[in-house]
This record gives sequence, C-alpha cells and structure tokens, in this order.
Amino acid sequence: MNKNLAIYGGPKTIDKNFDWPVYNETDVDVVAQIVRSGKWGNPDCGDEVEAFEKEFAAYCGSRYALTCVNGSVALRLALIACGVKPGDEIIVPPYTFIATASIVIEANCVPVFVDIDPNTYNISPAQIEKAITKRTKAIIPVHFAGQACDMDAIMAIAGKYNLRVIEDSAHGHGAEYKGKKLGSIGDAGCFSFQSSKNLTSGEGGMVVTNDEALYDRMNSLRNVGRVKGGQWYEHHYAGCNYRITQMQAVLLSNQLKNLPDQTARRHQNGTYLNSLLEKIDGIKPLARGGGETVHCYHIYIFRYDKSKFNNLSKVDFAKILAAEGVPCFMGYPEPLYRQPLFQEKNFLCYAIPDYVDYSQVYCPVTEKACHEEAVWIFQNTMLGTKADMEKFAEAILKIQKVSLLDY
Ligand SMILES: Cc1ncc(COP(=O)(O)O)c(C=O)c1O
Repeated sequence: MNKNLAIYGGPKTIDKNFDWPVYNETDVDVVAQIVRSGKWGNPDCGDEVEAFEKEFAAYCGSRYALTCVNGSVALRLALIACGVKPGDEIIVPPYTFIATASIVIEANCVPVFVDIDPNTYNISPAQIEKAITKRTKAIIPVHFAGQACDMDAIMAIAGKYNLRVIEDSAHGHGAEYKGKKLGSIGDAGCFSFQSSKNLTSGEGGMVVTNDEALYDRMNSLRNVGRVKGGQWYEHHYAGCNYRITQMQAVLLSNQLKNLPDQTARRHQNGTYLNSLLEKIDGIKPLARGGGETVHCYHIYIFRYDKSKFNNLSKVDFAKILAAEGVPCFMGYPEPLYRQPLFQEKNFLCYAIPDYVDYSQVYCPVTEKACHEEAVWIFQNTMLGTKADMEKFAEAILKIQKVSLLDY
C-alpha cells in the first residue's frame, strides 16, 4: 500500500470532470419548441423524425435511414428484415455488448461466436471463414470501440457465401473505413443513441441501408406491421411500436451538428495517446491502420501486461488508474458465450435447435482480452485536451513506478 497513490489517499494525477453529454442552450430550445408545439410524436413518426432520418442518411452516405427505440432493436429489425429463418446461423464476435448476440436469439437464430483479432479486438475475417456452414445466413461485425472492422475482407467472404452483413455500428458514429462512414458498407448498419454513445438522445437507435426492400420491411416492423398506403388497422408483419419521439429527433439533429468536430477531436486525441502509451513498457494501444480512415474512439482501449507492473492484476490496475483521475474500467469481465443466457440455454420461448451447446466454446483472444489485457478509457475523455492525454500517460507511469516498489 503506497500512500503516494490516489487510491490510498495520495494526490490524483488528474483532477478534472469530463462531462457527458455535452449540450448548450440550442439543445434546450429545440426540445422546448417541440414540447410547446404539442406535436410530440405520431404514427408516421412526425416531420422532425423524418427530417433527422434524412440528415443522418446523408451524413452516412446511405440512401435510407430509419430511427427506432434503441440500438438493440435496430439490429433486430435489420436481421429479421433480412429474411432469416429459425435455426439459421449468424456469425458474431464474443467481445461485444450482449445485444449483438441476444437479438439473434430473439430472431430464433443461432449466434456462432468467432474470435477477435488480437491486435484490433475486431472480429477476425480468417476465423469467420472457418465458422461458415450451410446454415450460415449473416455476419454481424461490430466496429468495436469505434474502430472499423476489416470490411473488404468481410464483404468478400459475404459475397463468396451469399451472406448478409449487418454492421453493428453502435460505437461507430462518424468513424470511417477507407473514406466510407461505418454502417454504410454492409446490407444495413445499426447505431445506438443510448446515453453513453458518441451521439445520444438518452435512448434511441437507427438503421441505415441502401436496400429499398429491406428499408420498407424494417419500416413496417417498426410500425406494428403497417405498410405504405395500407389502412390504419391493417397489419402485414409481426412488428411492434418501435418509434421514437419528435423530442428525440430534434435533439439528435442538433447534436449531429457537433459530431464531425467531436469525432475529429477524438481521432486526434486517440492518435496522440497511442503515441504516448506505446512508449510505456507493458502497455500496448490497439493496432491502427487496417483501413480505418477515421476512428471515433467510442472507447479508448489499451492492452495491459501485468508482468511489467509487478503482477498487479488488471482489475486492480484499472481501479488504481481510475482513482488517479483517469475515467476507466476493466471492460467486459467474460466473453459473451460465458453468460448464463448461453451456458444455461435460457432461451425461454425462442425456438433454438436442441443441438446448440455453448459449453465448449472457447475463443482464446477474447478470453485474454477480458481476463488479462483490455482496459477501457471512456469516450468523453477523448474530447479533452492534449495535456489531458499526457496526464493519462503520466498516471500509468506513476502506477508502474510505484508497483515496482510496493503497491
Ligand atoms: C456493440 C453494441 N451493440 C449494440 C448495442 C445496443 O444498443 P442499445 O443500448 O441502444 O440497445 C450496444 C449498446 O451498448 C453496443 O455497445
């Protein structure tokens, strides 16, 4: 126990609040105007919702954009609209939020976990190809933390085996792969506007696509199965009410104006922090340069090697670093397939085939990321200054120095 560490009462390396969400009076005004108008929402979603969808589609370079209640539902709508059937296999990474895989169960399909690349933490295209069977129908690559997946390789595999690609871009607002916005490359791209995300209205979701048939079907599923030109009580699909409000739409539209500048700043700070952390023995930032032209750092992740920190565990390291004033966290404690949902096959009413068994699934790179290696710094810090990034590196060096003596 070294008294110099903030966790034991010593001085913090950095003492600053990194606010999130960031807003100003114009955000308050646009919401207030809608409140006063009394037009808070309607079954066709309302003008403001449509206007925001058009803006977001243009921003992503996609033909269509469709809002919905959250990112999980966005993925669910996209997968179901792709026409999957019960028992179809859908390839997903195990290092992601539960929704990427649980929505597959909700579509009566089988998530097949494919390990991530050790250098990027994104799904490994080489492993995808090995996991394909005659039942495989789609791949859901996750642009984890805001870093683009290897989309050329993924799209080539999808083309070869006739698979659909649904990009989970919940972390990827504004980030780019070879100059294209994430979400705009596959059959559909799904975003979350939940409160921690780089673009937020507290909750909310979006799907972008260039495929008109897919868009029409998702639109119907979002709106209790109604179809364009149909009667009010005429329902063609087993949809639900997944619409957002006009208040959310105007807030998102106003927030979208800041996204390009914020993304540029995140990219710049993340790149600078990489240059500082790669000089520290035992710390490795995730690799860059795999085609991502803009990284939006929804999370800043680095890999930790405890052998260079006197075997201080990752969990303790992250707690000590957070106490030093670096908003950070140990990340996912376990790969997704270890969740009770999969191990205990708690599939409730969903029709998952009996042969499905996750007890033997083992993805070594994800295991290592969860148990030993990955440390996450939160996205709001990436809107900080260059000096903040220097303090983050200083805090890690402080812990390293102390740990070699006595922690
Ligand atoms: C990778 C990923 N996919 C999907 C989602 C689901 O988004 P939502 O929380 O808006 O349903 C999240 C949310 O955290 C996520 O991190």
